[in-house]
Amino acid sequence: MNRTKILISILLVIGSFTNILAQDIIPLPKSYTSNGDVFQLTPDAKILYSGELEAMAEYLEETLSPATGWDFDVAQAKSASSNSILISLDKSKNIDKEGYQLSVTKQSVEIIGADAAGVFNGIQTLLQMLPSEIYSNQRQKNVEWIIDGAVIEDAPLYPWRGVMLDVSRYFYGKDYVLHLIDMMGMYKMNVLHLHLIDDSGWRLEIKKYPKLTSVGAWRGEGHERTGGYYTQEDIKEIVAYAALRNVEVIPEIEIPAHTLAAVAAYPWLSCTEEEHVVPLQHFISRDLYCVGKESTFEFLEDVFKETFELFPSKYLHVGGDEARYDRWRECEHCQARKKELGLESEKELQVYFTNRIQRMAAKHGKTIVGWDEIIERGLDDKAVGMVWHAPEKAISGTKDGHDVVMALTGHCYFDVAESKIPGEVKAATWLKPISLEKVYALNPMIEGLDEKYRPQVLGAHVTLWSDQFIHGTILQEIAPINENRSEKYMDYLTFPRLSALAEVCWTPKDLQSWNDFENRMSTHYRRLDEADFGYRVPQPKLVSKNKVNDGLEIVLENVVAGAEIRYSIDGVAPNVYSQVYSKPFVVEKLSQFQAITVVNRNQYSLPLHFPEKYDKFKKYGEMVAEWAPNKIQGKEFADFEMNATGKINKNGTYELAFWFTNGQHRLEIELVEVFKNGNKIAEDDHPAFTGGNSKNNIYTFEINDYETGAAFTIKAKVRGDVGNDSYGAVFIKKQ
Ligand code: ACM
Ligand code: ZN
Repeated sequence: MNRTKILISILLVIGSFTNILAQDIIPLPKSYTSNGDVFQLTPDAKILYSGELEAMAEYLEETLSPATGWDFDVAQAKSASSNSILISLDKSKNIDKEGYQLSVTKQSVEIIGADAAGVFNGIQTLLQMLPSEIYSNQRQKNVEWIIDGAVIEDAPLYPWRGVMLDVSRYFYGKDYVLHLIDMMGMYKMNVLHLHLIDDSGWRLEIKKYPKLTSVGAWRGEGHERTGGYYTQEDIKEIVAYAALRNVEVIPEIEIPAHTLAAVAAYPWLSCTEEEHVVPLQHFISRDLYCVGKESTFEFLEDVFKETFELFPSKYLHVGGDEARYDRWRECEHCQARKKELGLESEKELQVYFTNRIQRMAAKHGKTIVGWDEIIERGLDDKAVGMVWHAPEKAISGTKDGHDVVMALTGHCYFDVAESKIPGEVKAATWLKPISLEKVYALNPMIEGLDEKYRPQVLGAHVTLWSDQFIHGTILQEIAPINENRSEKYMDYLTFPRLSALAEVCWTPKDLQSWNDFENRMSTHYRRLDEADFGYRVPQPKLVSKNKVNDGLEIVLENVVAGAEIRYSIDGVAPNVYSQVYSKPFVVEKLSQFQAITVVNRNQYSLPLHFPEKYDKFKKYGEMVAEWAPNKIQGKEFADFEMNATGKINKNGTYELAFWFTNGQHRLEIELVEVFKNGNKIAEDDHPAFTGGNSKNNIYTFEINDYETGAAFTIKAKVRGDVGNDSYGAVFIKKQ
C-alpha cells in the first residue's frame, strides 16, 4: 500500500496532547503518495475556486476559519498561485463520480473533482490531514497548521453510503439533523434517510392535512406531552444544508403499516375508522391504511405531492415492512378489492398497494425504495430494496432487476449496543451486540451474489432506530455520557461505528484491513472530540496473557491516541483514579483484572473484563449476577438486586437458577421479583436453598409485555444460612 503513516508528537498526557499529525485518513483513500513536502497554512493563504464552486469555497473558508481564527481571502481563479488552496472541477481528468485528486505541495493545495461532491470529499480528506484541532469551533492557539505533502487519488467503492434516522419514535430537532449531516460529511457518507412516519409520530408538515402534525406529532398529556415535527421551511433548510455537504435526503413515507400516527389524526385512513391516540409505548400497530378505500390513495397522492416539492431526491422510501393483515382480512372494502382483483392473499393486496404507490411516484419521476419485504413480492417496476432481515432477498431482488442497499441487522443496526458489558448503553436488545469489528466485517457484496449484479448493489445503510428513546427521557444513567439526552445516546451509538461503515462503503476491498483501520481510528477520537461529536470510548485491548511462574502476565494496548489505561486487580471496578497502566502486570487468573480507557475524567470506557465463565452451569443460561459474602446478610433476609436488562430480551417464560460455588454456608432464597422500568411485573414466591446440596433453587416467571429499551431488574430475598460465607452465581435462561 503506497501510504505512509507519520505520527508526530503524540504526547500521551491527558489534556495536553497536541498536533496529532497523522495520515490516518478514514475512509482510506484509493491511493496516497507522499512527496516529502509540507504545506503550512497561514493567515495570508488564499482560497481559490473555479466558476461553479463559489458556495463550496465559502464552505471551505467557514470550515477553516473558526479554529485558525483567520479570515481567508476567497477568489475565483483558473490555477493555483503560491500559498493557496485551489478547488476546481475538471471533467477531462476521468475522475469517477464523487471522486477527487488532492495534491499538497510546499506551495499550494489543489483539489480537483469531477463534480462538486468530489470536491467536498477532497476537502474532508484535507481536514483529516490537518491537526485535529481544525474541527474545533473555537480559536486554537499554538497549533501549527501543517499538512504533509502528498498526492491522493480517490473515489468511492459504492455510490450509496447511507444513514437512517428514526425521527418518529423520538423527535430529533432540526439542529440534531444538521449535526448528523456534519457527522456523515466528515466520513463521506452521502444518503440521509429520514424515517418521518411511524406509529408513534408523524413528523412532516403537510399543509393539506394539518392534523397529521397537530395531532399525529404529539403524544402524552400535560407536562408529559412530547413530540414535534419539521415545518416545510425546516425541511428546505435541512435539504439545502445537506446538498452542499453531498448528502441526499430521502424521505420515508411508510405504507401500509407503522402508520398509527396518521390514523390517530384521520381515523378514516384505517379499515375500522376507530379513534386512536398516538401511543406512548413502542409497539407495531395492526391498524394499517385501508387498501380498499380510494380515499387512502387520494390522501397519499396529496401527501406525496407536498413531499416531492420539498425533497429533490429521485427516491421516495415507502417502508413496506412488518405489515400484519388482521384488519384487511376483516374489512369489507379490502375484501371487495381483493375479490375484484382476483387476488389470493393479503400479501398480494400489499403488492397491489405498493404497485399503485410506485406508479404515483413514477409520475413525479421518483423511484421507490422499501424494506426488503417490497422486493420479495414482485413489483411492476424496478425499485430499491433495503435489505435488513433477509440477505437472500438481495440475491433474488437483483435477479429480478431491482437495486439493493444493505442495511443488514447483523452489521448496520446501530440502535443495538456494541457489547454486553454490564453498564453498556441501553439499546435495542432483540439483536446480538454489533461491535466495531462486526461493522467493519460487512461486505455489501454478500456471499451468493453473482458478480454480474455488482452494479445493482448500491452500498450500505446504517439504521438509527429510536424505539428505545420513545419516552424522550432518561433511560439509564451512563457515566461516560454524563448527560441524559437521547441525542447524546445517538452520538454514542453512531461513533465510532459510522467510521467503520464509511470505510466499508468507500475503500477498495483489497485495501480494507481491520487492524489498519483500528490503528487509524485511534487518532480520530480526538477529532470527534474537537468536532463535538459524541462517541463510545472503546475498551483497552488484551494483547497477551502469557503464563508466568505466579500467574498470567497481562499486556494491554490503548486504542485511543492520547488517552490512558487505568486498571484494578482487587475485584472493584476501575475508575478514572485507578492505577495507570504503564507496563505489563501479573494476576493469578484472568478474571482478576479490569481495565478502562480514560480519555478524561468524564469520558472513559466500560471495563475490559473476563468474568468467570461458569462452564459447569452453562445449561442454566447466562450469568446475571454473582454473590459473595459482602453482598449477602447472615440471618436476615435482604434484597439481592440483579440487572437483567439485555438478558430478558423477549416475551416468554424464564428460569432463574441460583448456584452455590464456594464457602461454608448455604444460601437461602425465599422470593424472586421482576421489575420493568421499576414496576413489578412478575414474581415466584417459594423457599429454596443452594449449598452442598440444593433444593427448589430454580425460579420461574413470565414476561408478557417486553418492551425495547425497558430496564429489567430482578430482586431476590436471600440470606446466608447461619453465616454469610457463601459464593455463587445466578443464571437466566428463556425456556
Ligand atoms: C425494520 O427494522 N423493521 C426495517
Ligand atoms: Zn380496509
